[in-house]
Amino acid sequence: MLITNIKGLVGVHPKEKLLLRGQELADLPVLENAWILLEDGLIKDFGTMDSLSETIKSQYATHDKHSAEGRYVFPSWCDSHTHIVFAAPREEEFALKIAGKSYEEIAAAGGGILNSARKLQDASEDELFESASARLRDMIRQGTGAVEIKSGYGLSVASELKMLRVILRLKQAFPIPIKATLLAAHAYPQAYKNDHAGYIRLITEELLPAVAKENLADYMDVFCEQGFFSISETDELLSAAAQYGLKPKIHANQLSVSGGVQIGVQHHAVSVDHLEETDGSVLACLSSSDTIATLLPSCSFYLGIPFANARGLVNANAIVALATDYNPGSTPSGNMNFVVSLGCIKLKLQPQEAINACTLNGAAAMELSHEIGSIAIGKRANLFITRPMPSLAFLPYSFGQTQVETVILNGEIYHG
Ligand code: NIG
Ligand code: FE
Repeated sequence: MLITNIKGLVGVHPKEKLLLRGQELADLPVLENAWILLEDGLIKDFGTMDSLSETIKSQYATHDKHSAEGRYVFPSWCDSHTHIVFAAPREEEFALKIAGKSYEEIAAAGGGILNSARKLQDASEDELFESASARLRDMIRQGTGAVEIKSGYGLSVASELKMLRVILRLKQAFPIPIKATLLAAHAYPQAYKNDHAGYIRLITEELLPAVAKENLADYMDVFCEQGFFSISETDELLSAAAQYGLKPKIHANQLSVSGGVQIGVQHHAVSVDHLEETDGSVLACLSSSDTIATLLPSCSFYLGIPFANARGLVNANAIVALATDYNPGSTPSGNMNFVVSLGCIKLKLQPQEAINACTLNGAAAMELSHEIGSIAIGKRANLFITRPMPSLAFLPYSFGQTQVETVILNGEIYHG
């Protein structure tokens, strides 16, 4: 496929650039009046219109040529934190939340994660696959071209494995890269309410070996939070996961300064996610660390909790990525366009910074930035073409609307 007359080809980073640290986040190279050639599912070449050779022009004179006049071409959004396998939405909690109940209060009253776990127990693998597929199709239509998906609504060996098998089926069925994360340590199930050590043994002695045997997970996540998993429990779980080759991605500092960032960094976590609550020691810990700070502004928006200190993290030389956190309890939305807008409006990132955080750094948070997340020769041709836009900033500016007009996956237009 040849795309010509592109108003701006966005994210033309050098191929060896695999992440953007600190102030580098503002560096978003855009090629104006450009063309791009996609072949065999990959980005074959690109350049400015005056450099388009007669050979390529004649090769695509009569077929598979698309004009993107007035439009921008972006690398697909890379959503590095989601929980899209779940049995049912939880909009009954929405009313409670509006009436003033906090996330913790709703969870303590039998709502929250345990509510989702009860529903998931009765759902079949096929049902879960169908509903997660519908969510994923919606996300792809909104420009997402790589995604991480967590378990964590199973909370038993059988149900966690069921969730991970659904994620494996999604990997096989969808034309985008998908990473799977074991999040059995999402909450203590009812049966282990007073036996935390017993649940941790269940994860380390039964679940982890079974997951490793079927090669069902790429990462291990822990909800490190007051009332959920403590620092020492997180430490024990991450040490056990390392023995099976699972690197950590941690839910840290969502509701309080939990120490989850420090324990994650100590275990060389790929990312520590949320960080709505930060202090100086969190910034110092992530400064110059290879662990990525993944911020989830649509979770703050929905729960009404603080927005993360993105500017502080960027100024501290941390690596900042943005993701949706799509899940039924704290973020019932998988729209990365809205995340980019919130990144600007609420996290005070400039449009270039928010776009980089949702593309190249999002890919890095899934260890996929050699393959996706920017426009470079040889990378996977997952892109989207926008509607005509007056400028790049128009995308986050026009919040709540999608400017994504055409989705291209592996060099082909996505019609799903
Ligand atoms: O990332 N914080 C923990 N997990 C999810 C919410 C899960 C739920 O409420 O179902 C989150 O916000
Ligand atoms: Fe989450």
